[in-house]
Amino acid sequence: MKFLPLLLLAAVAVSPLVAQPKPETLYETREEHDPNGIGVFFMGREIARVMGHPAWPWLERPEREEEEGSDRLLEALQIQPGEVLADVGAGSGYYSWRMARRTGETGRVYAVDIQQEMLDLLMKNMAKRRVDKQVEPILGTTTDPNLPAASCDLMLLVDVYHEFDRPFEMVSGMIQALKRGGRLVLVEFRKEDPKVAIKEVHKMSEAQLKTELGLHPQLEHSQTIGTLPQQHIVVFRKK
Ligand SMILES: C[S@@+](CC[C@H](N)C(=O)[O-])C[C@H]1O[C@@H](n2cnc3c(N)ncnc32)[C@H](O)[C@@H]1O
Repeated sequence: MKFLPLLLLAAVAVSPLVAQPKPETLYETREEHDPNGIGVFFMGREIARVMGHPAWPWLERPEREEEEGSDRLLEALQIQPGEVLADVGAGSGYYSWRMARRTGETGRVYAVDIQQEMLDLLMKNMAKRRVDKQVEPILGTTTDPNLPAASCDLMLLVDVYHEFDRPFEMVSGMIQALKRGGRLVLVEFRKEDPKVAIKEVHKMSEAQLKTELGLHPQLEHSQTIGTLPQQHIVVFRKK
């Protein structure tokens, strides 16, 4: 009987509930930091400032397709008609309407952003493209995408994850909204590549993405696609 407390301690130590880190212990504030960052570090990486809505013309720049290979990105994801998709950090909807065309009238795209001004602009853009019936705007918070539980086949985050204020909580919320087997796709400018001319805090390495998403035992890394000119496509799957 004298070993009972030890056995209980061991059981608690391996329990998945205890294995989950406490979010508040994951963030560190530093005085010295990059002017493009918020001075808060997550697993050694500085979080970038959120791109404000007045900067939306940069998202819609005509040369973007050629610079980023946007159609090639969507092609690689093999979206099927009828799938339920989420464009998290959708901005002006540059990807939302392209996703809506691929999932078609039987599918749905949730366009999530924390800036109402972006969502207003996005819905005007969806109406111009005649996909406003398929795209539903959702105002999220910095800790919750506010998506329906177990609803999505695929979530796409293009150039967004690095500016999440609370990445651990956001990923937990996105996992809840994914179906089992659903994909969480992060597209980020490659930090490993010095030729990618983007501010440092707006770039992310594949290794750092895997470390951060690795905090969530419900996810597994499924593939990394390296066919885009400047970004990598890092795909995780909900177990
Ligand atoms: C650089 S823009 C990219 C927009 C779009 N994905 C694109 O590629 O055109 C980043 C967007 O993410 C949004 N964002 C930042 N943090 C967010 C969060 N926690 N939840 C949802 N959206 C967020 C910002 O408001 C901004 O519109």
